Amino acid sequence: MDNIEEDIRALQLDSSAEDSKMVVSNDNGVEPEELVVPDDVEEDLRDESHTASHTEEDTDPQTEHSEPKAVVEVKEQSSAAEPIEDEVEKNKKRHLNVVFIGHVDAGKSTIGGQILYLSGQVDERTIQKYEKEAKDKCRESWYMAYIMDTNAEERVKGITVEVGRAHFETETTRFTILDAPGHKSYVPNMISGASQADIGVLVISARKGEFETGYERGGQTREHVQLAKTLGVSKLLVVVNKMDDPTVNWSKERYDEIESKMVPFLKSSGYNVKKDIQFLPISGLHGTNMQTRMDKKVCPWWNGQCLFEALDALEVPPRDPNGPFRMPIIDKFKDMGTVVMGKVESGSVREGSNLVIMPNKVQVKVLAIYCDEDKVRTAGPGENLRVRLSGIEEEDILSGFVLSSNEKPISAVNEFVAQLHILELLDNAIFTAGYKAVLHIHSVVEECEIIELMQQIDPKTRKPMKKKVLFVKNGAVVICRIQVSNMICIEKFSDFQQLGRFTLRTEGKTVAIGKVTDLRA
Ligand code: GTP
Ligand code: MG
Repeated sequence: MDNIEEDIRALQLDSSAEDSKMVVSNDNGVEPEELVVPDDVEEDLRDESHTASHTEEDTDPQTEHSEPKAVVEVKEQSSAAEPIEDEVEKNKKRHLNVVFIGHVDAGKSTIGGQILYLSGQVDERTIQKYEKEAKDKCRESWYMAYIMDTNAEERVKGITVEVGRAHFETETTRFTILDAPGHKSYVPNMISGASQADIGVLVISARKGEFETGYERGGQTREHVQLAKTLGVSKLLVVVNKMDDPTVNWSKERYDEIESKMVPFLKSSGYNVKKDIQFLPISGLHGTNMQTRMDKKVCPWWNGQCLFEALDALEVPPRDPNGPFRMPIIDKFKDMGTVVMGKVESGSVREGSNLVIMPNKVQVKVLAIYCDEDKVRTAGPGENLRVRLSGIEEEDILSGFVLSSNEKPISAVNEFVAQLHILELLDNAIFTAGYKAVLHIHSVVEECEIIELMQQIDPKTRKPMKKKVLFVKNGAVVICRIQVSNMICIEKFSDFQQLGRFTLRTEGKTVAIGKVTDLRA
């Protein structure tokens, strides 16, 4: 156990020597969870935009206040003579946030670890140490996952709990990897990871029986796809993993079977399979078909890309660097001022900028900006940042607040109108005025109550139904008024999709997804 801290430190030191950088850090939040998703989703949510959401419903007190390791890194860097990354150089490469999602044990952390290893960020010595540690814990094959799974609980149990974060670069792109947990207890953490991502890698285990459990009703392959789409993950690489497993042995039939079962489900979840989805076979454990295309001797039938190529070729919808600045705050801490963390959803920020924190309308000034581990002068949309501010105390900020442009601040409301798609209610309950749930919209997590069902939408014609609606059941699409007890900052979906999509959860289950159609202060 003592070795873990040392290993983490060793890793971070290794990475600082490289020009490609790595940080492994964690988000948090814990909650029991189970969800079955229906096979049809509201049409309006079927588009390519991306959005933000972050949740930590009923977070585990043990993890809630654990400080992400990335934060520690910044603190270490905050000495007087900080090098300022050359802006032009930094901005030359595009930046993509990629979340790894999929059922528990599909191999997400193993693939993340392998990516860092292949991109030269983990040395042999560290790998050997992990091999030994994994063996000592009777988890031999888990050593690659240990690169991403850095805390003791994760290593002992062999599951990811908190979202691991790491960075790597290819010729054209800087990637931030977000390694989400697959276990159903940690879905809120997965939501948090997905809300920060532009694209997703859906990892599916091809091992006999494992694909099946992930795919069946209640499996997280389904739930994660559905949530990722709602949270704005616009494209998915579907990685069919464990192709080396003896039960698979690079079988084309098995690969085709998985693809043919996944395609209709991905379609029903709102993805355009031709444009937004790409399948490829890999072995995360052995690193096969990841950095380089695999040998025909391993897999004679595969002529397509390897994972790095596919990641490099992914295009995401253009973001507007000139839009009004919006950065939902995920976390905050004190460090020579107040530092807030979050992903820029729109606009750009510059050292010295005057901004406003909403909804409490506090004027702030930007003292410093950190992108990954680097200090930068400016940053644009899509970047995950830490921003040091003056003018506000750390205690006066809550996650879910939005760092916002002064000229066009985001609106704050405690009531709004939304179009909801009911997925599955607990015990087939009915959904009616008075229904209470937890609202997750970008980084906001807030208790909410349905005040009024206004209109039901006919799922077939997509037109409002005439008769008055008093209650609805699973699968219904309904327009309703929702109230929250505290002011929250959101946007109309039609104005700003990233900040206008949400999920409703009850007792750890995602019961509905929706979009904001009208704001009422
Ligand atoms: P959670 O974080 O708990 O959701 O799991 P995960 O998806 O991160 O899976 P993880 O990487 O921890 O791997 C789970 C198990 O699958 C480990 O024993 C891995 O060694 C094994 N595994 C992962 N990838 C491969 C692979 O390509 N081939 C084989 N044979 N085993 C693999
Ligand atoms: Mg994992």
